[in-house]
Amino acid sequence: MKILVIGSWGMLGRDLVSQLSNLSVPGSLPVEIIAANHGHVDITNGSNTSAFIAQIKPDVIVNCAAFTNVDACETRISEAFAVNATGAKNIAQAGKESGARVIHISTDYVFDGTRNEPYSETDQPNPLSVYGKSKLEGELAIQEISDTYAIIRTAWLYGPYKKNFVTTVLDLGRKNRSVSVVTDQCGCPTYTADLSYAIGSIISRNLRGLYHVTNAGTCSRYEWAKKIFALTGEQVSVLPLKAADYKRAAAVPQNSSLDCTKYTTASGHKMRPWQEALEEYLRLCNDQAAN
Ligand SMILES: NC(=O)c1ccc[n+]([C@@H]2O[C@H](COP(=O)([O-])OP(=O)(O)OC[C@H]3O[C@@H](n4cnc5c(N)ncnc54)[C@H](OP(=O)(O)O)[C@@H]3O)[C@@H](O)[C@H]2O)c1
Repeated sequence: MKILVIGSWGMLGRDLVSQLSNLSVPGSLPVEIIAANHGHVDITNGSNTSAFIAQIKPDVIVNCAAFTNVDACETRISEAFAVNATGAKNIAQAGKESGARVIHISTDYVFDGTRNEPYSETDQPNPLSVYGKSKLEGELAIQEISDTYAIIRTAWLYGPYKKNFVTTVLDLGRKNRSVSVVTDQCGCPTYTADLSYAIGSIISRNLRGLYHVTNAGTCSRYEWAKKIFALTGEQVSVLPLKAADYKRAAAVPQNSSLDCTKYTTASGHKMRPWQEALEEYLRLCNDQAAN
């Protein structure tokens, strides 16, 4: 089975490429992974995307490419839609032409965050930001074009291959001995290694449709930061901050926790609690710093 990962130099893409090399798919020949970055294919260009995919002839395409700077999307609107909406559409079209299944990564930011409970796949999206709107348009294009798609909505990613919330909080805490973090935004921190494993399960079990996949549990960004320093044992004051007092360009949901029951039932795999995944990631960071 040939799996093409687009966006392979991003935070998720890099982890996914390394994790998928261990994937075994029942009844299939060994898995071959092809990693494509922005230099190999520009997904905003339909003919470039179709020609690239026709040449590779993958069985499965995983699209990890996106314009992910949520605040920058507010001013770079056409770029956000070109990558997140047209790019997704181009991949779905090229996948259909070449007979490949498409696995597309989407986001909790398609929801407005006004619900008090975690969102399930049947809840109505209502994005607040350009990023969320462009990602939702990408989802809709894939659903319209492809008969074999899987769309995975995930959230609050962190991992070893890019600066993220965890590394930013650690850097600020170590520098200033205190960090102010928002208390009234809740979500599911998700480790790219764990999400990569779940993507592998979705591929090997040939799951189709829309799935929410995050590490288990929910917290505020404030609780997440507190846990980071509790696990590293560093004496850093984590100070509560209201979202209203933290000015940023994009409006983001207050509660974007995702209910992952559908994925757990279909795959037979339950994502571990976010605290356990965070502990493993921090251990990895520590080991890397020591070497
Ligand atoms: N990060 C999060 O917290 C989060 C949360 C929920 C969902 N997600 C979703 O998860 C997926 C992966 O996110 P991530 O954080 O790993 O993203 P990332 O680190 O920003 O990586 C995105 C990759 O997409 C590539 N790319 C951008 N425009 C492209 C284009 N026109 N053609 C081809 N490649 C292009 C980028 O390459 P260049 O840098 O070279 O342009 C980059 O390597 C995305 O779909 C994102 O929406 C992320």
